[in-house]
Amino acid sequence: MFDKMKLWKNNSESSNLQDTIEKLKQQPIPAHVAIIMDGNGRWASKRSLPRVAGHHEGMKVVRRVTRFANKLGVKTLTLYAFSTENWKRPKLEVDFLMKLPEEFLGTFLPELIEENVQVRMMGNKEILPKFTLTAIEKAIDATKENDGLVLNFAMNYGSRAEILEAVKHVLTDSKSGIIDEEQLTEEVFSSYLMTNGMNDPDLLIRTSGEIRLSNFMLWQLAYSEFWFTDVLWPDFNEEHFVEAVEVFQKRQRRFGGV
Ligand code: FPP
Repeated sequence: MFDKMKLWKNNSESSNLQDTIEKLKQQPIPAHVAIIMDGNGRWASKRSLPRVAGHHEGMKVVRRVTRFANKLGVKTLTLYAFSTENWKRPKLEVDFLMKLPEEFLGTFLPELIEENVQVRMMGNKEILPKFTLTAIEKAIDATKENDGLVLNFAMNYGSRAEILEAVKHVLTDSKSGIIDEEQLTEEVFSSYLMTNGMNDPDLLIRTSGEIRLSNFMLWQLAYSEFWFTDVLWPDFNEEHFVEAVEVFQKRQRRFGGV
């Protein structure tokens, strides 16, 4: 595997990459992959660079992983780009993170359009800076007719807040007679979440060796397969993605059955 991957680095469109993709496709590909992209700060510290350098490198990996997921036939890729808790970080870092969507989409939107990717966002839009939201909304609009990979950015996202908002919405709908207790099934409740219309993730990846969910998709990950790696996000590449999918394919998903 290693030699094969080395070749990819020299020529990412190599036939080896194509062979590996074809081989993986012989078994079920996770339709929805969710990723907690962690370890940017440590990647930068290890190189005596400012933390934001790690985020910038991490942004490049977003492009790489999006392209690979699309080639693999993944239908939805949800990326945890900024959590509701991340506002606690130093202002300089928060400001940098808020500028990344603009830079990423400013550079790669034509490529995303060409590759039939549909951009989406989940999270609280209200307190995002205008330039961040404008960049994302422009990309959402420009890609809304695309029907390839859905690239779903979790931006100012927190799962508890999402669930709480959904409960409040259900209560309002209940008071107005739109829904009653009998009608409130798991499926209906899911439709009140920000992932309305998307399937739950089949596979969750978290980089950097941390083994926790950090308030990410707590409802939606109920039956997902988890894959954790010590690799820091800026070092994450196709090789690691392949490894995660191979592990996923070896696992038997029983959804609580036998
Ligand atoms: C966690 O690593 C990472 C983040 C809070 C930001 C993730 C953002 C990106 C990878 C870029 C997103 C790109 C776009 C286009 C929006 P950390 O900083 O907590 O790392 P550490 O645990 O090593 O300190």
